[in-house]
Amino acid sequence: MTPKLATPGCTSCSPTPGDPQRRLWLMSTAAAGGVAAVSTAIPFVSTLAPSERARAAGGPVEVDISDIPPGGLKTVEWRGKPVWVLRRTPEMLAALQGHDDALADPASARSEQPEYARNPARALRPEVFVAIGICTHLGCSPTNAPRGNANPSLPTDWPGGFFCPCHGSSFDGAGRVFKNKPAPTNLEIPPHRYAGDTRIVIGDDAA
Ligand code: FES
Repeated sequence: MTPKLATPGCTSCSPTPGDPQRRLWLMSTAAAGGVAAVSTAIPFVSTLAPSERARAAGGPVEVDISDIPPGGLKTVEWRGKPVWVLRRTPEMLAALQGHDDALADPASARSEQPEYARNPARALRPEVFVAIGICTHLGCSPTNAPRGNANPSLPTDWPGGFFCPCHGSSFDGAGRVFKNKPAPTNLEIPPHRYAGDTRIVIGDDAA
């Protein structure tokens, strides 16, 4: 079966939840959408140990984050969804400030995240950002768009973040959507907790 790839303007590019094709589609769009194109990105799924692959079907997934370099993004699978783990640099953290007026939901008041991630960095620890890599518009997988990238769809003063190629929604480095874009809310933050300084459990809430 050939998975559907998201295309601009496509009205059928978001398979229904539970559809086996959805998982293939998400994996394909994550790779085709640019996450794998980032030099510091780490290949999807292959980073999972066998026990992690088994748990990916539903239970919590423990992720080793010790191999993510500053600015690097690792994608893992949880409940059939791509989950990003981004190690932010001090510059990336600084770039989260100064553009609240341009955001649709700067305080994440109507977006989905655990309470412990309802803060400007939308994170348990500011230097590590965990988010579900699915656009809140129609479910495409946004690309990682660091500051200084050459995407002509982004403004010259782009602070860094994520860009959804399907219909042009853009998100800052905390997954907060910019105003006047099709995506209605910020990227979803999954429940997660730390299991030591170098491991994160996705799918399990912090105490
Ligand atoms: S799916 Fe439409 S902008 Fe992302």
